[in-house]
Amino acid sequence: MEGIIVGGGIIGLSIARELLKAGHKITILEKDTIGKGASWTAGGMLAPQSEGLKPDLFFDFCIQSRDMYPQFVEELEKETGTEVSYWDCGILCPAYSYEEAGELQKNMEMYKEVGLPGEWWDRSKLEKKYPHIGKSIVGGVFYPEDGQVDNRLLMESLTKSVKQLGAKVLENTTALKILGEDSFEGVETNRGILQGDYCIVSAGAWSSYLLDAKVYPMKGQMMAVDIDPSDIDTVFFGSKAYLIPRKDYSRMVIGATEELVGFTEGNTPEGLLQLSSGLKETMPPLAHRKVQEIWYGYRPATPDLLPVLGKTDREGVFIASGHHRNGILLAPITAKVMADLILKGVESPYLQHFSVNRFKGM
Ligand code: GLY
Repeated sequence: MEGIIVGGGIIGLSIARELLKAGHKITILEKDTIGKGASWTAGGMLAPQSEGLKPDLFFDFCIQSRDMYPQFVEELEKETGTEVSYWDCGILCPAYSYEEAGELQKNMEMYKEVGLPGEWWDRSKLEKKYPHIGKSIVGGVFYPEDGQVDNRLLMESLTKSVKQLGAKVLENTTALKILGEDSFEGVETNRGILQGDYCIVSAGAWSSYLLDAKVYPMKGQMMAVDIDPSDIDTVFFGSKAYLIPRKDYSRMVIGATEELVGFTEGNTPEGLLQLSSGLKETMPPLAHRKVQEIWYGYRPATPDLLPVLGKTDREGVFIASGHHRNGILLAPITAKVMADLILKGVESPYLQHFSVNRFKGM
């Protein structure tokens, strides 16, 4: 079977890898450079609990994917020889007020009820470990099972993997239209028409240019600063900002704004101010570190902020998009459910729940 995947981000590449391993011939269309879109601009947190998600089917989906990560990265690293800096460092959610502490503790209790660990650290415990925390922090919840991966290294590794497995990668190739009324007949691109047996649209925030999927961009601005190994040894994920120290201490990633501004380009003083003040309130001395880089990206959001996965109305046309804040986290499980659907016809309950049909008539 020959498949065409539109979008060379983490979702497209992870699905491609599964299909290639099963012997399918895969062509990946990428409008710019493979692996350098939203997945490259992300933070790389694997944070279902720290995100405060309520225990439901989406949460289960996230937890399953988080649990798949160690094996996912181990296999990838073996395949490609590229280390991806997966770090099961845990994530600490600081509370900047007693009111927020109450909300965070409620979440922690909610997770305990479904058997997932979390620990409340009061200010004195936190200060002992992290003497430089900001004055307003009253304590925090530590989730030992959340973690992070260096998403840029991961994208390098995934790109290498799909190429090694024989994917045909067409960069600077924009998919303009999915052809066929009732079933897949090809993809019209800026370089001509491509044909195959099926097509998967995993074009992130751009997916709705091709299918009526209600996916829209939610811009996020980011920054990275110098870091010292003695600063922090875990992710701080606060309501003001998140601070992600990379495992090799090469940088600390600070994120992120959430802006409904379409595909507006560039960083803004307001966005950078939000990141800088969030950093300063969380760990004041780090606000004096050298800025290494500023950048931005577009999360693929949907009306209910859940992914859109699975079949569409047209036979042979599939979608895997809308992962919003959790694309890096959800890559392993998305690849599995999409590959199971395409290779074996397995319709998991997740696919029914995340079907694009839920937006019909909107
Ligand atoms: N996953 C973090 C973010 O979307 O900013």
